[in-house]
Amino acid sequence: KRHLLSAADLARDEASRVLDTAEEMLGIAERPIKKLPTLRGRTVVNLFFEDSTRTRISFEAAAKRLSADVITFSAKGSSVSKGESLKDTALTLQAMGADAVVIRHHSSGAPHRLAGAGWTNGAVINAGDGTHEHPTQALLDAFTMRRHLGDLAGKNVTIVGDVLHSRVARSNALLLHTLGAHVTLVAPPTLLPVGVEHWPVETSYRLDDSLEKADAVMMLRVQRERMNASYFPSAREYSRRYGLDTARMDRLPEHAIVMHPGPMNRGMEITADVADSGRSVIVEQVTNGVAVRMAVLYLLVGGATTEEGPA
Ligand code: CP
Repeated sequence: KRHLLSAADLARDEASRVLDTAEEMLGIAERPIKKLPTLRGRTVVNLFFEDSTRTRISFEAAAKRLSADVITFSAKGSSVSKGESLKDTALTLQAMGADAVVIRHHSSGAPHRLAGAGWTNGAVINAGDGTHEHPTQALLDAFTMRRHLGDLAGKNVTIVGDVLHSRVARSNALLLHTLGAHVTLVAPPTLLPVGVEHWPVETSYRLDDSLEKADAVMMLRVQRERMNASYFPSAREYSRRYGLDTARMDRLPEHAIVMHPGPMNRGMEITADVADSGRSVIVEQVTNGVAVRMAVLYLLVGGATTEEGPA
């Protein structure tokens, strides 16, 4: 594969290969010397048109641990504010040499445009495009689940909340389906997207109905910045019906894990008690994000051709 634009780009064996490689990368991250020489001489450009904490920093850490040169571009403070287009921004960065371009953009489809239009010679990695997809988040979520639950085939994953605006939900639904898991999306009717009936998932309006069988529960951030206030229930009403509190957490099977991609609205979709509880793997998701992004960069840019995996 040359690019990673959608979770649907990955067949089951390819997704498993990323997760297996990430396992090796996690082992390397735990060593006293965390660096590999694999991407020495290669340049990774982080192209961020939308705010990010976890994804931007973890891609930067991942590229540096593989010894790549890293250029991080944030639209804020750049010539984008003077009206420079995605095309001209991309061509400018390409002129400096980019072996991989990690792009986050507020417009759904921007990474596909970048990859398809020939504005870069590098591998394009979608780091979140509008409300569309966030494939490396889905990979780090699957990696985290696999570490706790084993093979994901037949496992039940409940994804709760603002599915309408969630690129995380879409990428997770696609990847988890590929890996054989059953996904239930739980949301108020106004926060489910048109066409969700074509996704490989079940849907429900009632969180309480899907707690007992869940192996993992993933709470989504309520994205109020993307919402028209008129179709959002009150925060109190939302938390009462769709928030994960300790009473609901206690109804999960003993082995079940609680996830959130971040950033969290504590007190809205998840209480602080649950977020900080022993069932929560939210901080671990961030740690795993670095290993998964190392694996993606290694496989796309490192030219891994051997069966042995990373040197
Ligand atoms: N999960 C996630 O994408 O977080 P950031 O927006 O902080 O990158």
